[in-house]
Amino acid sequence: MQEFEHIGELNPPARLLMAPGPCNADPRVLRAMSAQLLGQFDPAMTRLMAETQQLFRTLYRTRNEQTFLVDGTSRAGIEMLLCSSIEPGDKVLIPVAGRFGQLLCEIARRCGADVHQINRPWGEVFTLEEIEEGLKKVSPKLLLTVQGDTSTTALQPLEGVGELCRRYGAFFFTDATATFGGNELAVDEWGLDAVASGMQKCLAGTPGTSPVTMSPRFAEMVRGRFHVEEGVREASDVDGPGAIISSNYFDGCMLMDYWGPRRVNHHTEATTALYGAHEAARILCEEGIGNAVARHKKHGDALLAGIRAMGLKPFGDQAHRMNNVVGVEIPEGIDGEAVRRILLSDFGIEIGSSFGPLKGRIWRFGVMGYNARRDAVLMTLAALEGVLLRLGMKLPAGEALKAAWAFYDAH
Ligand SMILES: Cc1ncc(COP(=O)(O)O)c(C=O)c1O
Repeated sequence: MQEFEHIGELNPPARLLMAPGPCNADPRVLRAMSAQLLGQFDPAMTRLMAETQQLFRTLYRTRNEQTFLVDGTSRAGIEMLLCSSIEPGDKVLIPVAGRFGQLLCEIARRCGADVHQINRPWGEVFTLEEIEEGLKKVSPKLLLTVQGDTSTTALQPLEGVGELCRRYGAFFFTDATATFGGNELAVDEWGLDAVASGMQKCLAGTPGTSPVTMSPRFAEMVRGRFHVEEGVREASDVDGPGAIISSNYFDGCMLMDYWGPRRVNHHTEATTALYGAHEAARILCEEGIGNAVARHKKHGDALLAGIRAMGLKPFGDQAHRMNNVVGVEIPEGIDGEAVRRILLSDFGIEIGSSFGPLKGRIWRFGVMGYNARRDAVLMTLAALEGVLLRLGMKLPAGEALKAAWAFYDAH
């Protein structure tokens, strides 16, 4: 017997992915991703690249020329923006109230930043005054924020922060991985300088490429670190005055010239991921970003109505909740992991747990992307109620669906 004979054809089980990412990809995205490859300098491919940039400018509500994809999952976009902008010793200010604020600290430290944190308990958000105080005290080169810290479900308000950053001379970055497409995000209007996000959440795409955008002033700062790798360097290329970017793959200068008219031969484009991103962005542009945000809010709120009607307690400040992630406190006497296990094995539904101080305390439900739909919400509520009843919890049977239906009737 050969060693691989027991390995069958790839055939993943059917799942309804109601955790905070990935969610099920839109079937149109999957169809686009089955198209044959193109060479990366084929005019048909460079046209698709330019279209992708235009689609993401529309979704990000920006005129930034430097809007493109970084291959890799969402953190690839984050790493590219941070390692292209932070030179060793640069001060950065990071408000931290969850796992993904901590991730920014971790990446910034690896870039050699002098990291200054302001902290709040997980699940809370920062006021403009707190951010201003930090900017005044630290005078950082960059303010690094997370728009929606998926680990806690909290949505950090970003309006007004851009003005503060300009007043105190800082560049303004946000990680919009889990919020983009399902929550308001107005890059130019809010004065954002750099934004990274992911495909596998509200965009109904697949993980593997990260849409980013950079303001002209941020791009110019990155350009100061210009350096082209030896094999594709031209005689006219002169290194910039800034420190060389320590990563070749995440060198923002070379990436700008790869996506721009120079078409520098940097990396092999992840063609299939680009096809998927192109189609996902086209679907959202067709729907209209405002409608997509409203859809996420509606279905997130419908799930919440059902959760409340079941007698479960939502986690966190609901006035500052991401539209697309609902946190729920695990009730006393219920084994949270057993609930997740049974939902998966008996209903094919995946929901999330959390991390750090929230580990074992909350479940997290993602209502996003292709799954921000009525049938997905109702199915999840029905299954959750069934599992809780099976585990012996006393709850008002039938009320969750009744509440969600009533919510839908009213909206
Ligand atoms: C807010 C946020 N930032 C960053 C990440 C990291 O993204 P990825 O796992 O796609 O690299 C995630 C993933 O869930 C996230 O929710």
